[in-house]
Amino acid sequence: MALILAFNIFTLFLVYGISEGQLRTGFYAETCPQAESIVRNVVRDAVLSNPNTAAVLLRLHFHDCFVEGCDGSILIDDGTPNAERHAFGHQGVGGFEVIEKAKTEIEAICNGVVSCADIVALAARDAIALANGPSYEVPTGRRDGVVSNISLADDMPDISDSIQQLKAKFLNKGLTEKDLVLLSAAHTIGTTACFFMTKRLYDFLPGNRPDPAIHPTFLEELKAKCPRSGDVNARIAIDEGSERSFDIHILHNIRNGFAVLESDARLNDDQTTKTIIDSYFGLLNPLFGPSFELDFVESIVKMGMIGVKLGSHEGDIRRTCTSFN
Ligand code: HEM
Ligand SMILES: *[C@@H]1O[C@H](CO)[C@@H](O)[C@H](O)[C@H]1NC(C)=O
Repeated sequence: MALILAFNIFTLFLVYGISEGQLRTGFYAETCPQAESIVRNVVRDAVLSNPNTAAVLLRLHFHDCFVEGCDGSILIDDGTPNAERHAFGHQGVGGFEVIEKAKTEIEAICNGVVSCADIVALAARDAIALANGPSYEVPTGRRDGVVSNISLADDMPDISDSIQQLKAKFLNKGLTEKDLVLLSAAHTIGTTACFFMTKRLYDFLPGNRPDPAIHPTFLEELKAKCPRSGDVNARIAIDEGSERSFDIHILHNIRNGFAVLESDARLNDDQTTKTIIDSYFGLLNPLFGPSFELDFVESIVKMGMIGVKLGSHEGDIRRTCTSFN
């Protein structure tokens, strides 16, 4: 009898331990059933008024997850220059006001229940769907971080990183070379500032020569869009010809010398990452062979689990996303 009781307590503890200890879909089904639909509506309105907001929200999720885990640390704006969001590696990241709008609407209904970290992950998912990308469920239950420090963003992947550095930075977050390829394919939507193009177009090789990986006709187009002494804030599509639609077109471009970003181009130089890209263009794809959309979903769900804070003892639920409680 005592043994059975002990066993039951043990199972109870185990079940409780699991529900406290990991993300799960529908985490807010009882505590705030409207949470996901509120995020979806706020994201939809934001994307309707500015279509590039979809890309901005997707990028925000990546930058949140790569520093201190997916914990909303990038959202903190404490007025000091030491806040993580001011890091060089986060240059151009935005979408903060969309997250705050969703948070405000959610707080009005369910006070202190839904984390900002989850809102970021949900918003990225909704943004992808609005760009005609794959739909997927987001496991939730992330808690908000209590640290924001600019130097913690020093290791963000950089546009000029070698393929070895890119692989290492992803591996460091538990992400494989395959994840690197698929997550880089998020560049299927959105834009870059010419700022990030200058080196690649004008100072890549000695003698002011460009990156030889750029297709010759594309090089002329890129130079026309981002002239040497032009406006570094001018913005150009990253997935040339398909920047509003979430699709495999980006990998097609990368394979053919039409990558815009330097880090994307490196994926086609390296044998391992190139083989991964090529696997989506087999003769029998997409009927047989791997599915770009399904594999992307697997990778982004995985990215959304980096360093998450869980349960009631880690992190907290912020009242506003830009400041600690
Ligand atoms: C592999 C390392 C990566 C590097 C070096 C990198 C770098 C960049 C750079 C320089 C830009 C242009 C930023 C601007 O001018 O505002 C950009 C844009 C973007 N990145 Fe990445 N990125 C990487 C991975 C990722 C990942 C993993 C995701 C998401 C899963 C992502 C999503 C995006 C999106 C959606 C945009 C467009 C943003 C916009 O239109 O404002 N990137 N990235
Ligand atoms: C930020 O992090 C760095 C490196 O971990 C540390 O040296 C520094 O003291 C931190 N700054 C603050 C204000 O916590």
